[in-house]
Amino acid sequence: MYSSFVSKHLFSIPILAVVAMQLSFVESVLSLNQTNEYLHHICLNRQGTYKSGSKYERDLNNLIQIISISVLGNVVVFSGDYAPYIKLQCRGDSSTSTCRSCLDTAFSGISRRCPKNRGKIIWYDNCVLTILTSRTYGEIDYQNNFYISNSKDVSGDTKSFNEKRRALLYTLKDKASSKENVPNTKNYLYATGEESFGKMKLYGMMQCTQDLSIKNCSVCLNWILAKLPKCCNGKQGCRFLSTSCNFRYELYPFVKLTTI
Ligand SMILES: *[C@@H]1O[C@H](CO)[C@@H](O)[C@H](O)[C@H]1NC(C)=O
Ligand SMILES: *[C@@H]1O[C@H](CO)[C@@H](O)[C@H](O)[C@H]1NC(C)=O
Repeated sequence: MYSSFVSKHLFSIPILAVVAMQLSFVESVLSLNQTNEYLHHICLNRQGTYKSGSKYERDLNNLIQIISISVLGNVVVFSGDYAPYIKLQCRGDSSTSTCRSCLDTAFSGISRRCPKNRGKIIWYDNCVLTILTSRTYGEIDYQNNFYISNSKDVSGDTKSFNEKRRALLYTLKDKASSKENVPNTKNYLYATGEESFGKMKLYGMMQCTQDLSIKNCSVCLNWILAKLPKCCNGKQGCRFLSTSCNFRYELYPFVKLTTI
């Protein structure tokens, strides 16, 4: 048996705001290329393997089903007290159905890639699914991370591009780890924004998994932002992802902007 922690919360918004949100939603969805690209996975071989028909396999399948039922918007962080420990975090702009379908995709994707591994992690555009043998709730994972950068360098003034980018991302960090953020809501530990760069626009997004404290979210974001010169110098687009926090920026819109 396992006990579990499910974090979910419904929040109400005045009707006018909902209408306004739907209008801006329709607009931004039309201009967005909505995909859920596979990004990366890690089979954690040191955490061992399990056999077909084992208790571990049954518990894993049961927990995934419970999580799927518990999805509400992007607000899902789940952790048992006994192995397997599972954490699902969907991107901040995910609807319930986007998040649930990302979980389905992620679970079948990781089951295929690391069939019998007890520990495994998989990243998609819309979610990250972490399955571990030890409880890590609230902790920052410094081990499992990667980056993907656009092969194209920004043309022209790289120095001022890097400065604009830095300014945008550090603003988003402050926004994501603001003390005014309310736990268990969609925008908790999540921020999006944009910044003009000459005739172009730079779009950014940042997120921590919602099991982190505000303080640890800020610590995690500072840690990955310090990678900018190495991973992303002069790149038109780049993202750095861990199982605890991530950022992304591009010269095109890739995420629904939070306008309220
Ligand atoms: C959306 O993105 C995919 C993958 O990057 C690409 O193959 C496709 O052509 C894009 N579609 C549009 C309408 O831009
Ligand atoms: C913050 O992260 C550290 C390192 O992962 C962890 O040991 C600590 O418990 C976390 N603090 C809180 C309040 O969750």
